[in-house]
Amino acid sequence: MRIRLCLIPGDGIGPEIVNQAVKVLDKIAATYGHEVEYTEALLGGVAIDATGSPLPDETVEKCKAADAVLLGAVGGPKWDNIEKAIRPERGLLGIRKALGLFANLRPATLFPELAGASFLRPDITAKGLDVMVIRELTGGIYFGEPKGEDTTESGERRAFNTMVYRESEIERIARVGFETARRRGNRLTSVDKANVLDVSQLWREVVVEVAKDYPDVELDHMYVDNAAMQLVRDPSQFDVIVTGNLFGDILSDEAAAITGSLGMLPSASVGESGPGLYEPIHGSAPDIAGQDKANPLATILSVAMMLRHSLDLPDEAAAIEKAVQKTLQDGFRTGDIMEEGKRLLGCKAMGEAVLERMA
Ligand code: NAI
Ligand code: MG
Repeated sequence: MRIRLCLIPGDGIGPEIVNQAVKVLDKIAATYGHEVEYTEALLGGVAIDATGSPLPDETVEKCKAADAVLLGAVGGPKWDNIEKAIRPERGLLGIRKALGLFANLRPATLFPELAGASFLRPDITAKGLDVMVIRELTGGIYFGEPKGEDTTESGERRAFNTMVYRESEIERIARVGFETARRRGNRLTSVDKANVLDVSQLWREVVVEVAKDYPDVELDHMYVDNAAMQLVRDPSQFDVIVTGNLFGDILSDEAAAITGSLGMLPSASVGESGPGLYEPIHGSAPDIAGQDKANPLATILSVAMMLRHSLDLPDEAAAIEKAVQKTLQDGFRTGDIMEEGKRLLGCKAMGEAVLERMA
C-alpha cells in the first residue's frame, strides 16, 4: 500500500530519534512491498524560530493530507521564557485539536527482556506490567472557557480555568476505552473525581450508560486520588484506564514512570477519522540532544503503533516489535536503560541493531 506519512522531528533529540524510526519504516516498506511518501513539517521551537508560530498553518495542512503523523518531541530551554500563547507545547495542543485527536493511548508495558533491571521495582519484575492509559485529549480543563486572569474588586490578581465535558465527548472516549479493553483483558477502570466535581458525576453517568453496550467488559470506577495511589501500590490490578484530560496527563506519566524506561514507551493520539499522531511519550531531552545518546526505541515502537492503529498493518507492526525485543534480548541498551553486562549503544547504532534484526 501507499503510505503518506508526515514527519515532525521537532526539537532536541527529536530529529535523531525520528531518523532511526524512518530507517525502520523504510525497511518494513521494502520487505512488505509498501511505498512510503514522506513530507516533513515544523512544530514547536523550530517552528517558532522559522515562522514565529509553534504551529504554522502549513504544518496543519501537511498533517491533514497524510495518513498518519510521526512526531519526535517539542520544546526546550531555548523557548522556556517565551510568552505563553506561542510556547512550543501550544503547538502540540494545537495540532491535536486541529486533527480532532481526542483519544491518547499510552501503553505502560514492562518488556520481559528488561525484567530484573536495577531501575525496576522487584514487584514489577515479578508481576509484570501491562496497563493502557487512555486520556481524553481535546476537552476538559485544558480547553474549557472561561479561562484567564483578571483582578478582583479588592485589586487582587486571580486566575481561572474551567473543567467542562459534554456528554458526547465523554461517550466517544468511553467507547475507545471499552473497545480497547475488549482487545485486551476485558477490564476497564474509569477514573474521575465524582465525589467532588459535577463534571465527574456526568462523566460517571455517561460511562455507565455506554457500558450497557459492552456487557462483556468488566467496568469499575475509581477516584483519581485513589487511582494514583493504587497505580503505585499495585499496577497489576489495572488493564485499561480511561479518564479525562488533566487526570490522564498525570496518571499516564505515573504509569510510565513505574516502567522505569521513558525511552521505551510509544503513544498514539487518534480521532474519529483522519490521520492519527504517533510519538514517544518522552520529551525533547535537551540534556542529551545532539550527542547520539537518545533511546530511539519509543519512537520506533510508535511506528509499530501507527502501522497497527492507523494503517491496519498488524503483521508489519508485530515485525517491528519482535525486532525490538530481539535487540533487547541480544543485550543491546542505550544509556537510559543500561545495565551491567549489557552493551551500550548510541542512538544511531541502536536503530541499526533493530534494522539488522528485522526479517
Ligand atoms: P524529557 O522526557 O525530555 O527528559 C526527562 C529525562 O529523561 C532527561 O534526563 C532525558 O535525558 C531522559 N530521556 C528522555 N527521553 C529519552 C530518550 N529517548 N533516551 C534517553 N533518555 C531520555 O522531559 P523534560 O526534561 O521534563 O522536558 C524536556 C523538554 O521536553 C521540555 O521542553 C518539555 O516541555 C518537553 N516535553 C515535550 C513533550 C512532547 O513533545 N510530547 C513531552 C514532555 C516534555
Ligand atoms: Mg504529561
